[in-house]
Amino acid sequence: MEEKEIREAALKAIGDSKDLKSLEEVRISYLGKKGSVAALMARIKDLDPAERGAYGAKINGLRNEVEGAYNQKKTELEKEALEQKLKEEAIDLSLPGYEFRQGYRHPYHLIIDEVTAIFADLGFEVKEGRDVETEDYNFTYLNVPKDHPAREMQDTFYLEQGGLLLRTQTSAEQAHAMQEKFDKGPIKMICPGKTYRRDDDDPTHSHQFGQIEGLLIGKDISMADLKGTLELFVKRMFGEKRSIRFRSSYFPFTEPSVEVDVSCAKCGGKGCQMCKGTGYIEILGAGEVHPAVLRHGGYDPDVYSGFAFGVGIERVAMLRYGIDDIRRFYQNDVRFLKSF
Ligand code: PHE
Repeated sequence: MEEKEIREAALKAIGDSKDLKSLEEVRISYLGKKGSVAALMARIKDLDPAERGAYGAKINGLRNEVEGAYNQKKTELEKEALEQKLKEEAIDLSLPGYEFRQGYRHPYHLIIDEVTAIFADLGFEVKEGRDVETEDYNFTYLNVPKDHPAREMQDTFYLEQGGLLLRTQTSAEQAHAMQEKFDKGPIKMICPGKTYRRDDDDPTHSHQFGQIEGLLIGKDISMADLKGTLELFVKRMFGEKRSIRFRSSYFPFTEPSVEVDVSCAKCGGKGCQMCKGTGYIEILGAGEVHPAVLRHGGYDPDVYSGFAFGVGIERVAMLRYGIDDIRRFYQNDVRFLKSF
């Protein structure tokens, strides 16, 4: 091919290149070491020395022209490629973001916090218990020996490992607290946590529920101290107008034992449907710590005495918020959970 044809073909090929890759191929075939322009230049050696100067200048002119066209096209294509890339990577700022949702505290935990705050004000320390217990802590150390019928009242889930069970009552923490107390001095503690029992699941019973245990050990601790403490708790929790009532009861680990009722919020104690005409609603069990329990904990019952109580967390929440069914606590119904 002659110089003129090569010029035309090269400029056309450059002009037709659609992307950098095909442009590069064009460059190699015309401007490369083995390209057409180099081939033309190679012919110089066959020429008369007198003609070489003019021929060389002509081919160099061709090379410069083709190179110029190539460089211009390359700049164009690079710009295009960059624009395309920017377009593809653009962030669409009009896309709506994710909604930020604030969670809600579960009423179960709201009550734990409130009860804990009230007793912390009175100087009670807060202990964390354990859900899996040994039979000893759940029963034996609480004065419920093996084969005692009281174990039947609190049947539970037993683990395959011998002697382990899901605790039926936070009272197990009483035994831990006493045994762990290195100087066998006074104890003032509460312990919130889950408990488990074989139970029918109905509006007021669940196989799993929360309790808050309270234990106070000291010298000359009487039922009057228990009553004063619980009265203060109830008034803080449910309002100044509420009063409490002790009914004698039985627990193996307290003597005397009581069940404690709070005056009905709805009728103020006159008797209505909510309190089934009695004017009171039961909220907890309590009593003076049994001497056998003190002894199991390493305390001398002739020197020390104390009181203990166990309050149901859901029970308190139901009274506090007017919840009709204990199962609502575990159903994860967002409409229910949102209302606190
Ligand atoms: N543990 C008892 C129950 O679960 C409640 C209780 C606690 C009673 C402490 C007396 C003292 O029913």
